[in-house]
Amino acid sequence: MIQITKRVDFSASHRLYNPDWDFDKNEEVFDKCNNPNGHGHNYILEVTIKGNPDPETGYVYDLKKLKLLLKEKVVSKLDHKHLNKDVDFLQGIIPTVENIAVMIWRILEPEITNGKLYKIKLNETPDSWVEYYGEDIEINRFG
Ligand code: NI
Repeated sequence: MIQITKRVDFSASHRLYNPDWDFDKNEEVFDKCNNPNGHGHNYILEVTIKGNPDPETGYVYDLKKLKLLLKEKVVSKLDHKHLNKDVDFLQGIIPTVENIAVMIWRILEPEITNGKLYKIKLNETPDSWVEYYGEDIEINRFG
């Protein structure tokens, strides 16, 4: 088995807060990330697919097609958007890098038919990222 990875990036703003808490509690937990008008990040998404090379092409997955898929299903929905307000699949979800990664997995997993989605790595800053391998995780949707 071979793992192949495509990297794409997008820029987006968000605000981290729990609508069930008052402002002070949100300040205490989320600090600057609770800024009511949001703040931005340059995200880097790396999507890894695992499989065996097709005997006729030598490809585990055609990286041109993967790039198009990521642009269509993920980047076009998130790039230059406010993640709390503009993105249908994040409605009511606290848009932490953790939750965004899980939701990206759920969008991509059914689309990857030849080969198997193996890992989502999402950087929120150059120094902080999450890695997700598709384990069962419950995401709280508010409202
Ligand atoms: Ni942030």
